[in-house]
Amino acid sequence: MLDLKRQYRELHGELLDAVGHILETQQFILGEAVATFERDAAAQLRVAHAVGCSSGTDALWLALAAAGIGPGMAVVTTPFSFFASVSSILRAGATAVLADIDPTTYNLDAAAVETVLNGPRGASIRAVLPVHLYGQCADWTAFSRLAKEHDLKLIEDAAQAWGAEWNGVRAGALGTAAAFSFYPTKNLSAAGDAGMVTTNSDEVAERARMLRQHGMRRRYFHDEIGWNTRMDGFQGAILSVKLKYIDGWNQARRTAAARYHALFAAAGLVETGPYPVHGVVLPQEVPGSHHVWHQYVLRTNRRDELREFLASRKIGSEIYYPVPLHLQKPLKSLGYSESSFPEAERAAREVLALPIFAELREDEQQTVVAAIAEFLS
Ligand SMILES: Cc1ncc(COP(=O)(O)O)c(C=O)c1O
Repeated sequence: MLDLKRQYRELHGELLDAVGHILETQQFILGEAVATFERDAAAQLRVAHAVGCSSGTDALWLALAAAGIGPGMAVVTTPFSFFASVSSILRAGATAVLADIDPTTYNLDAAAVETVLNGPRGASIRAVLPVHLYGQCADWTAFSRLAKEHDLKLIEDAAQAWGAEWNGVRAGALGTAAAFSFYPTKNLSAAGDAGMVTTNSDEVAERARMLRQHGMRRRYFHDEIGWNTRMDGFQGAILSVKLKYIDGWNQARRTAAARYHALFAAAGLVETGPYPVHGVVLPQEVPGSHHVWHQYVLRTNRRDELREFLASRKIGSEIYYPVPLHLQKPLKSLGYSESSFPEAERAAREVLALPIFAELREDEQQTVVAAIAEFLS
């Protein structure tokens, strides 16, 4: 599914030097390496501030809390994402409200959010948290309009979307605040857990910096109850090395995605969708979007059988995500049930992610597509 060693082989000299420098300086938490990464990351995303922290999960909580979201407020997000998209809202003390997804992009559907905003729970909603799923931005034109009309904050879950753009603006610079994950499988990855909040607001950035260190502005003087969610020096140093290459790696992913598209078309397997019949529905880059292909996810109605067939050929694949969030045990208390979100539930039965990463070779992609063609014939 993903061979991280290929990237390491290219960079190991530079990475070992960066790690060695941290050992020399003994600045293990935050410090110069993290500050440098924050500065360079903000410049690359064309956003005013970047605040490093210890994971994408913590970044989501920090972004919400720093934007002033807390008890008595509700936030709308998607049921089709990683668990943290919802749990971070609850962690911030707010109420999570869900709305269904668009079946083509799998991203939160702005029309479904608008229905919720105009419904009985609309008055308590203070923010929307769209996820840029699989590396493609949610429809920011529509969410910006909703935010203006309903006076809402927009918090981006950009965990999967380093380098993605909406109409030329990078993920991380679109909303009130954004959260990134540098989990090792992400396009831009640390050597462990790490995350980052970005924002164009001086105030949100300053609060995020305070909250990531137990609410301290001055050492041992606590202004608020924050948490310990600082970025390690090692992670800052490693991420600074990789930051120089990420645009190229994302371009390689775009090339790989185009190659999959061409191979599936040549095999005559492509259906227009949004739902599959006998073949596969391919992922799409929608107008206005610059997709960075964190995942290449197709749809098929024989998904589980296909996955087993690929596994028998030693071809990796993955299901992001097999259970929509409203049906997860700890989130039952949100009050939804089976068939609350038909698009998310259907996607959970039909999506399959194929191997995609910068170093993936053309012959490997040919093998994947040939195996799928064999299965479907
Ligand atoms: C959409 C999404 N949100 C949040 C997270 C949480 O990030 P982390 O694993 O770094 O805590 C992830 C990554 O796992 C993710 O994919």
